[in-house]
Amino acid sequence: MKSKPNDIIIFGPPGAGKGTQSELITREFDLFHLSTGDILREAIAKGTETGKLAKQYTDSGRLVPDDVVVRIVEEKIKEIGDERGVLFDGFPRTLAQAQALDEVIEGGGRNLKWVISIVVDDEDIIKRLEGRRMCRQCNRIYHIIANPPKTEGICDVCGGELYQRNDDRREVIQERLKTYYAQTQPVLDHYRKKELLKEVDGAKHPKEVGSQILANIT
Ligand code: AP5
Repeated sequence: MKSKPNDIIIFGPPGAGKGTQSELITREFDLFHLSTGDILREAIAKGTETGKLAKQYTDSGRLVPDDVVVRIVEEKIKEIGDERGVLFDGFPRTLAQAQALDEVIEGGGRNLKWVISIVVDDEDIIKRLEGRRMCRQCNRIYHIIANPPKTEGICDVCGGELYQRNDDRREVIQERLKTYYAQTQPVLDHYRKKELLKEVDGAKHPKEVGSQILANIT
């Protein structure tokens, strides 16, 4: 009998390095990178109905309503199918989302194997997010000091334009942190009880954080 592909959740506060580490993990394993933040930003850029709704929340550092995000994730999982493992980045972010994901996993031939929580303190997070730049075309992540592109403003990989996210302004970052501690951090207990949780020290160099993650999931 064929074994089920393994799914992974990468968890952490805003700016913990979830996107950065997702790049590494999906290079290492054949996983689909499902980032709810990337999907919502794409919808916002295209001006879809979902995008218009999402923008009101993302620009102010609040969470997009659960029913909207859960529907996006369910549709994406159907599209991916059960032959391929998924790396969830930025989902689930509330207990209701975690319960919805449990149902999808239990009902649909999937296997959630690990929840990796990246731990970083608030001071580092603010420095990271204020200096972050992203590629408009391929979503590659840079930092103006820690990980600058070879040519300022241009993506090394695809030549796309780099931009600063709307929610990476200091006042929105503060709101995102408040939202994280109030609504998202409690989700950790859900996975702790299921004995799926692994914590890594996110304050180290990205390569070291990556090595810690790989050591935990292989
Ligand atoms: P989302 O895009 O998911 O944002 P986030 O969770 O706030 O996380 P970030 O993307 O800001 O950070 P990251 O942890 O990926 O860090 P990164 O690798 O980029 O969500 C955005 C918004 O969408 C939310 O606020 C919400 O409104 C909405 N949303 C999304 N999902 C939702 C959901 N499930 N439910 C409801 N609403 C939802 O790194 C950050 C910076 O640090 C980069 O510059 C990077 O180069 C640098 N860096 C990374 N690692 C290191 C390191 N080890 N050392 C030094 N610098 C580092």
